[in-house]
Amino acid sequence: MSFASRLLPARNRAPDLTPMHGAILSAMPVPVVLLDADNRFKYVNHAAEQFLGASAASLSQVRLTDLVPSDNPLFLLIDQVRRTEATISDHDLTLESARLHKTGITVQGSPVPEDPNTVLLVMQDASAARALDRHLAFRGAARSVTGMAAILAHEVKNPLSGIRGAAQLLESSVAPEDRELAELIRDEADRIRALVDRMEAFGEKPIVRAPVNIHRVLEHVRKLAQTGFAEHVRFQENYDPSLPPVWGNRDQLVQVILNLVKNGVEAATQGSDRRPEITLTTGFQHGMRLSVPGTKQRLDLPLFVSVRDNGAGIPDDIRPHLFEPFVTSKSAGSGLGLALVAKIVGDHGGLIEVESRPGRTDFRLHLPVVTEKDADQ
Ligand SMILES: Nc1ncnc2c1ncn2[C@@H]1O[C@H](COP(=O)(O)OP(=O)(O)OP(=O)(O)O)[C@@H](O)[C@H]1O
Ligand SMILES: [Mg+2]
Repeated sequence: MSFASRLLPARNRAPDLTPMHGAILSAMPVPVVLLDADNRFKYVNHAAEQFLGASAASLSQVRLTDLVPSDNPLFLLIDQVRRTEATISDHDLTLESARLHKTGITVQGSPVPEDPNTVLLVMQDASAARALDRHLAFRGAARSVTGMAAILAHEVKNPLSGIRGAAQLLESSVAPEDRELAELIRDEADRIRALVDRMEAFGEKPIVRAPVNIHRVLEHVRKLAQTGFAEHVRFQENYDPSLPPVWGNRDQLVQVILNLVKNGVEAATQGSDRRPEITLTTGFQHGMRLSVPGTKQRLDLPLFVSVRDNGAGIPDDIRPHLFEPFVTSKSAGSGLGLALVAKIVGDHGGLIEVESRPGRTDFRLHLPVVTEKDADQ
């Protein structure tokens, strides 16, 4: 849609909005709205049309109060902007009406000095920002495990092998009725050993990268799953065969996908009538970029891999800590799976997004692909 068609009828038009200004506003990916003194829509950009779920033409016929009930705190903000002639922002607003259902919205309102009583609103869905915060938190979460892994490896493994050996000796010498106890000690020591081994994967080793065919990784994991823990689970595959190779470490990527598929299978096979199903999808997604920590560099992440299941969704109390180590809702879970996923994806310079609701949980990885520069190495 062209800029002109989003401009509202001439009588309402902001007098100084040149085509160039309009073009810039309309290209902005965040919703921008200009309201006149009566809170009629004077201008909406393309992102705002999408956000409000209505075209510029239909918005020109209504006021903001027709979309959002007049007792919404948004109107306090707008009044305040008019009164104080200052920019004011409000976070975590809920915009709810018959036509609109938005939560966690950040709105910034600014006066337009050249056009008194006009208010400029910039709106943002905070979930996007929050998702980003969480990705950064993953890195922190993984780092706390890194240190602990080293300590555990040193301080626990040696005494543990002593305990295990002693239990084994006891097994052969104690009375038969006590043997069970000695076996219990050995088994539990083995369990701790396995846990420490898993934690060692968090160690700070530099990652060795090569071009990786992500579809081979997915196929490998699917086969592993279907011959093991996911025998009765249906797999759907939507692969984009034109994708370039990922610039990464094949074994680590197998670990990532395996952990996600295992979680998906565990969720989908838990107490639901639905047939458990895992959907693996790959594709291009342009416009995903991430800053490289400590540098001004931006990394393009054009490739995504999604692992989706039809289970009950992520429990509410787990969500805020999903990627932290030792967070689990499972009686036999260690809660290390997703912490490891976050660590490996972070090491690859990638990003994870999660969307979950009952019946559909989607873990989406955004990964870097091989560039000419990498291929030359
Ligand atoms: N696909 C999913 N659907 C619903 N909940 C999930 C899903 N993936 C993860 N979770 C929730 O996140 C928690 C943490 O997952 P994570 O993989 O880190 O540990 P775990 O699966 O409990 O144990 P481990 O992976 O060490 O066996 C899970 O216990 C579960 O509550
Ligand atoms: Mg897991």
